[in-house]
Amino acid sequence: MSAVPTIDKRTAAQAPAWVKHEKLKQWVAEIAAVTQPDRVEWCDGSQEEYDRLCAQMVDAGTLQKLNPEKRPGSYLAWSDPSDVARVEDRTYICSANEADAGPTNNWCDPAEMRTTLSDLFTGCMRGRTLYVIPFSMGPLGSPIAHIGVELSDSPYVVVNMRLMTRMGKKVYDVLGTDGEFVPCVHSVGKPLEDGQKDVAWPCNDIKYIVHYPETREIWSFGSGYGGNALLGKKCFALRIASTMGREEGWLAEHMLILGVTSPEGRKMHVAAAFPSACGKTNFAMLVPPAALPGWKVTTIGDDIAWIKPGADGRLYAINPEAGYFGVAPGTSEKTNYNCMASLRQNVLFTNVALTDDGDIWWEGMGPAPAHLTDWQGRSWTPEIGRETGRKAAHPNARFTVSAEQNPALDPEWDNPQGVAIDAFIFGGRRSTTVPLVTEARNWVEGVYMAATMGSETTAAATGQQGVVRRDPFAMLPFCGYNMSDYFTHWLELGKRLEAGGFKLPHIFCVNWFRTDENGKFIWPGFGDNMRVLKWMLERIDGNAEGEEHLFGVTPRYTDISWDGLNFSQAQFDQITGIDADSWKQELALHRELFQTLQQGLPPALTQVKKQLGEKVTLQG
Ligand code: OXD
Ligand code: MN
Repeated sequence: MSAVPTIDKRTAAQAPAWVKHEKLKQWVAEIAAVTQPDRVEWCDGSQEEYDRLCAQMVDAGTLQKLNPEKRPGSYLAWSDPSDVARVEDRTYICSANEADAGPTNNWCDPAEMRTTLSDLFTGCMRGRTLYVIPFSMGPLGSPIAHIGVELSDSPYVVVNMRLMTRMGKKVYDVLGTDGEFVPCVHSVGKPLEDGQKDVAWPCNDIKYIVHYPETREIWSFGSGYGGNALLGKKCFALRIASTMGREEGWLAEHMLILGVTSPEGRKMHVAAAFPSACGKTNFAMLVPPAALPGWKVTTIGDDIAWIKPGADGRLYAINPEAGYFGVAPGTSEKTNYNCMASLRQNVLFTNVALTDDGDIWWEGMGPAPAHLTDWQGRSWTPEIGRETGRKAAHPNARFTVSAEQNPALDPEWDNPQGVAIDAFIFGGRRSTTVPLVTEARNWVEGVYMAATMGSETTAAATGQQGVVRRDPFAMLPFCGYNMSDYFTHWLELGKRLEAGGFKLPHIFCVNWFRTDENGKFIWPGFGDNMRVLKWMLERIDGNAEGEEHLFGVTPRYTDISWDGLNFSQAQFDQITGIDADSWKQELALHRELFQTLQQGLPPALTQVKKQLGEKVTLQG
């Protein structure tokens, strides 16, 4: 075992020789002086470090090692029951001007927030170790990638960051002596007094997830969970990166990226935005139906895309992440074969149930074993589940796994240049109104589709079934600035590229979730979504027909391949039909959204809405 480079808090600037960045060393020293950890550890990202921290967390009761025969190299964490998800109401965009955060973000004056945080962070790491975690969002050295350094007092964060990002010593080679990095400070907010015994999952009832867009800083206090604590993900790769993209002319999007290859070997790349709970990971790892032989889908990313115009006027996308932090419940060999195959070994599970033989289980994985220990460490049987409604796994239970374990990983996933995007897809969960698939006739119409995206809440999450939450571009909780300015940014990017004579990616809007009169999904979804992808690709190549409807172009029944699927014209009509009355109501909701976003709302979008309104009136 190599020596662990530990540094006394008073000499935090004495970094290992491989850290040559004076400003970074100075910053670490400053944060250590405020937070007062017992020691500072400069993470190198090695396997040895990962194994050592996991073993340390097993000793501390934070992790349980799973049965190596069933789930080699894997661990299970159970969080504090109060710390199980992102905390949107505690998430702030502290821009200098309130208007720059816009009406959909929580805002606080930066000076006031700095005072609040200064009180909270003073001494907050006492009794703990401050880990210095260098990471690259995107392939090291890619012209689209950026570097961050997270200072955290959570070893759970260190091991997750190693799976989720390109993390470790090699980042310092890119950073050099004066490279730019986004500083991210994280504390679980639970200092230990002398001799005080730690708890398995330290956290604090007070939580703050704070972004300063002007200085590109992230400060997170009180939570050890997911997007609150792994600051490379939502905080950096979406909220801060979206503001960087706006200033620098690129896009940071809540999108998966996939490759589709036809039987003839024609390959295209698609970036797709869906709100949470719409099967994004399943779509990113889609297995085409056997009845469409020769078609292949490969994964570049499952959650976030950074997209930059190249010199050839095409939009190039990278996945800034290097792993998947996915929702476990509902994932099975049937719904997502490739995902289950990715999870056979070397996985960190959080808040799933434990089987009696040291493996894991969650609702939707398959038949429940006769006995389990649930995510809160309580005995659980299917009978108890039925009688009490208690889930064995928390509905937001997660797996963290390196992308390298995905059998459908695209060979270009790590290409520093990214992949050229041929189409954008936007989708939500809508039981009515929005048809299976529509192609926008132009960029502005596509931006309108994305801006007015909505998704119905599920009863599990809110207790209310079928309430439509507007989630523009699936970015509502993740846009680091005023949403209307974000729409303008998209419109301007399109205008700029078109003015340069370049062809823009096609834009499609999809909805897999229309239901029949009994509330049952009509479209089979999952692998059969390949049929829709196939039509899109044929459209891009100019080889597929369609017809115009209210707000774009849709396939006719005969334009889709139905081989191996019993799906009638009547069913197709049910999921593609446009009902004028429902659309009148839908447009009233668009109007409401636009009222909320009126400050800075681009007139081009109001114009599309007006035209839509006229068409609906004519139809109705
Ligand atoms: C996620 C989310 O965890 O979007 O990816 O909430
Ligand atoms: Mn997401």
